[in-house]
Amino acid sequence: MSRKALIAANWKMYKTSAEAQAFVDAFLPMVAGHTRDEIALFPSPVLLPGVVAACKGSNVAVGAQNIHFAEEGAYTGETSARQLTAAGGTHTLIGHSERRQYFGETDEIVNKKLHTALKHGIVPIICVGEVLEERESGKTASVLKTQVTGAFAGVSLAREVTSSIVIAYEPVWAIGTGRTATPEIAADAHRIIRAEVSKLLGSDAAAAMRILYGGSVKPDNATALIGQEEIDGALVGGASLKPDSFAAIVKY
Ligand code: 13P
Repeated sequence: MSRKALIAANWKMYKTSAEAQAFVDAFLPMVAGHTRDEIALFPSPVLLPGVVAACKGSNVAVGAQNIHFAEEGAYTGETSARQLTAAGGTHTLIGHSERRQYFGETDEIVNKKLHTALKHGIVPIICVGEVLEERESGKTASVLKTQVTGAFAGVSLAREVTSSIVIAYEPVWAIGTGRTATPEIAADAHRIIRAEVSKLLGSDAAAAMRILYGGSVKPDNATALIGQEEIDGALVGGASLKPDSFAAIVKY
């Protein structure tokens, strides 16, 4: 089963709109004509309309780092799915470990956000991953299974829809630490995740679903990671902030 890789830039809370514009101006020519992989940028909400405008007509999609699960309402500081799509965003991250750690996102919230994203035709990238203590105490598989099961509660869809869902395996101990999972460790975790998806949604959906790796992906380790049969792309933080380094990862 061949799955088109997705290389995604999570800019987190970095860049002003002028810096985002300068990034896109430099980056688009570097990846012009690149069709082997899908490419997506995830800027802060205030930057998103500008990045969408700058990427218009290119091979680069734009998404949000987070959406709220409600359609609309009195949720100060939040962004709805409808606001995202109206602004030209096509993807969203859901349940990034920083959202889970600092903003109290639970598997239940992740699940509600997934339903909302699917309802609005937004490509969701569900983030899962264990913390160091869980890995060291042999709990990685059970943590991943719990997160995947929680995320997919109540989701049973046609294969065309489930194949648009993306999972990102981001071991928390590898995020921003320079400590990358080895390709074998990552591939093992991806197999656990895919097996769980297969139990929940069936083997066809599991075979079609892309599972990205995230956590200290850099130009010099991207080939070894994404080259693994089980790894269908990357979710990149720090190394996505500079056009040349992100372009080098896109061209792994
Ligand atoms: P780093 O690439 O900076 O480790 O961040 C990974 C990440 O959290 C992407 O979502």
